[in-house]
Amino acid sequence: MGQSSQSSGSALAAAPPLGPARPIPRLDRLGYGGDYNPEQWPEQVWAEDAELMRTAGVNLVSVGIFAWALLEPTPGRYEFDWLDRVLDLLHDHQISVDLATPTAVPPAWFRRRHPAATLVNADGVRLGGGARQSFCPSSPAYAQASAAITEQLARRYADHPALVLWHSHNEFGGANALCYCPTSAEAFRAWLRERYPDLAALNDAWGTTFWGQRYGDWAEIEPPTTAPTSVNPAQQLDFLRFSSDAHLANFRRERDILHRLSPGVPVTTNFMLANCKTLDYWRWAAEVDVVSNDHYLRAEEPDNHIELAMCADLTRSVAGGAPWLLMEHSTGAVNWQPRNIAKRPGELRRNSLSHLARGAESALFFQWRASAFGAEKFHSAMLPHGGTGTRIWREVVALGADLPRLEPLRGTRVAADVAVLWDWPSWWALELDWRPSVDLNYRDRMAAYYERLWRDGVTVDFAHPESPLDAYRLVVVPSLYLTTAAAAANLRRYVAAGGTLLVSYFSGIVDGNDAVHPGGHPGALRDLLGVTVEEFLPLRTGESVRLGGGTSPAGDPLTAGGPPLTGDVWAEALVPAGAETVLSYLDGPAAGGPAVTRHGYGAGHAWYVSTRLGAAELAPVLTGAYRDAGLVPPAGLPAGLELVRRIGPDGAEFLVAINHADREARLPAAGVELLTGADCDGSLTVPAGEVRVLRR
Ligand code: GLA
Repeated sequence: MGQSSQSSGSALAAAPPLGPARPIPRLDRLGYGGDYNPEQWPEQVWAEDAELMRTAGVNLVSVGIFAWALLEPTPGRYEFDWLDRVLDLLHDHQISVDLATPTAVPPAWFRRRHPAATLVNADGVRLGGGARQSFCPSSPAYAQASAAITEQLARRYADHPALVLWHSHNEFGGANALCYCPTSAEAFRAWLRERYPDLAALNDAWGTTFWGQRYGDWAEIEPPTTAPTSVNPAQQLDFLRFSSDAHLANFRRERDILHRLSPGVPVTTNFMLANCKTLDYWRWAAEVDVVSNDHYLRAEEPDNHIELAMCADLTRSVAGGAPWLLMEHSTGAVNWQPRNIAKRPGELRRNSLSHLARGAESALFFQWRASAFGAEKFHSAMLPHGGTGTRIWREVVALGADLPRLEPLRGTRVAADVAVLWDWPSWWALELDWRPSVDLNYRDRMAAYYERLWRDGVTVDFAHPESPLDAYRLVVVPSLYLTTAAAAANLRRYVAAGGTLLVSYFSGIVDGNDAVHPGGHPGALRDLLGVTVEEFLPLRTGESVRLGGGTSPAGDPLTAGGPPLTGDVWAEALVPAGAETVLSYLDGPAAGGPAVTRHGYGAGHAWYVSTRLGAAELAPVLTGAYRDAGLVPPAGLPAGLELVRRIGPDGAEFLVAINHADREARLPAAGVELLTGADCDGSLTVPAGEVRVLRR
C-alpha cells in the first residue's frame, strides 16, 4: 500500500467521435441483481428475499429459468399462480423481471413421453436425465413442447408491469451442443440440402474423392460420429455449423413467439462468450434484441481479470459496440472447477466494474440466494448460506450502493484503436484432429495477444474477419487458419489503404471447406504478408527456439541490446517474397531463416510472426507494430492497472481505472471522480485493489 507507481503522459488522449450507443429498451438504469429461483424455497422466504433485495440495491432479477416442471407439471396443465405471486411481490418492491422461458430443462414427463428426443453423443450413447439440457436440439417433439410453454408464458405475462426483458432458454448449447441421434442425422441432411444445390456440390466441397468417400445418395450422409479414424474435416466443419444453427432455430422459434405475443419487450439469451466454442456468436448476435453474457473467472489462473476483460470486449464487439447485459457472474467461488478458488476481498467489485467499463449495463449474478440442495449448493451467491453477516453480503450491498453513481456511463461507448479478429469456424477448423501439431490452440493465441495489448493499456474491439476495419489503426490476427477469400480481400484492402496488420502463424491456410488455398502457404495471405511458408516445423514438447538479429530498421526496438526472444510449439521455414526480416531464428529447425517479418503493402504494413511467443515476448514485436500504426500506448502504465476510455455522444470522456495490484497507482488525469465525488486536479490516485471512474 505504501508504494505507488506512476504513469507519465496523459491517459486521456484525443477521442474519435463515436455515434450514440443504442440504449437497451426498457432498462432505464444500470441493472443489478441475478438469477432468482424462489421455487427452491418455501413461500415465507420470498418476502425476506424481496426485502433483502431492496437492501442490496437489486433492481433486476431473472426468474423461472429452470421452472418448466413446476409451471407445467403434467403435459398441457399449467400452474402459474406461484409465479404470479413472485412477479407481483417483485413489482411491489420495484424490482424488474427478466422472465425466462424454462426450456433448458424439459420436465421428466417429457423425457418419458419422447425417448427419441434424448441427446445422443458421438459414441451413440443416449445420455441420461436428472441433469439439464439432455434433449436433442433437432427434436420436433421438443420444438412443439418448448413452443407451447413459451406461448403460455408470453400470453400470461406480456403485460405484467414487472416484465422488462425476456430471457430465452439458458446458455443454448451449454450441455447439449452436439447431438448425433437419428433425428439429428436427418436434420443435418436437410441442412446440407439447403447449403448445397446438389450432391455433386457437396462431394466437391467435402473433397470426397479422398479416401473414396463419394456420396451417391443424401441418405448415405451421417453426422461425424466416432469412427475408426479421422472423419472428413469438411464434414466435421459442416456438422459444427449445422449444430450452431440447430440451436439458433430453437432460439428463433421462442423469440418469434415472444415478439408476437409480447410486442415491445426485448428478447435476449445468455451467451458464454469466449468460452463457448460451439456457437457462432457473430450469427447469433444478429438475432437477439439485446446481447447478454455469462462470465466466470478461470479462478485458478493468475491475473484472470485479463481473461475477463477479453470476454467483455468480445461481448461488446458481437453486440456491435452497443450496451450489453452481464447476465451472470459470481460473487465468489463457483462449484464446477477442479479447485473452486474464492474471490479475494474487493475482487467481486473489480470484476463487476471491469465488465461495466467494457460496455455492460448490468452486473447480475448466478444467483440471488445460495441453494440449500442440488448440484450447485457450493456455488457462491449474493446471499450466501451464512446470510447477511458475511463479507460477500457486505460487498454485494456496497456494490449496489455504488452503481447509481456510475449512471453517467450509460449510453457512452468504449473507444478502441485496435481490432483483433475472432472467428468461430476458424477456431473449429484449427483444432480438428490431424493438424500439424496438437499444440495448436486458438484460444491460447487469442489470450497471448490480448494479454499483451491489455498490459500495454490498449483497448481492443474484436471483429469478424469480413467486417469493415477502417476505423482501426492496428488489426491483430491470431491464427486465422481458415481464411475465406472475402476475409483475405478485406485484409488486403485494409492494409493497402494504410492499415497495420499483425498476423500470427498458421493463418490463411485453408478455405471454408478446410481445403488448402493454392500456390503455397499461407495461400490466402501470401501476397499481403510477402512471405511463403515452405514447411511447417512444429516443435517437440519442451523444445524452444531463440529469435534475434533482425536486419530491418523496424527491428531496432526489438533487438536493441536485449536478450533474444524465445518461442515454442511452432516454427516455420519462411522464404521472404517481398517482406523484410525483422527477427531471425537463431537456432532450431529454421535456424538462420526469418521468424518475424514486415511487408510494405500499398500504404500500410503487414507483420508476420511465425512462432509462438508468450505475452511478455510479444512486447517488442507489438512495439514495432504500434510504431507503424502510429499508436502511442500510455507510457509507464503501472503494472496491474486496467484503463478503459469511454466516450459519450456529447463528447464527454470517462476513464475507468481498475487497480488489480497490491500497491497504489497514480496517473495523470483531471476531472470529477464519480464513485467518491472527489475533484481530481491532474493526478488520479487509485488505491490498491480499488476502482476509480473519472469524468473529464
Ligand atoms: C451457468 C448457468 C447457471 C449456473 C452457473 C454456475 O452460467 O447458466 O445456471 O449453472 O453456470 O456457474
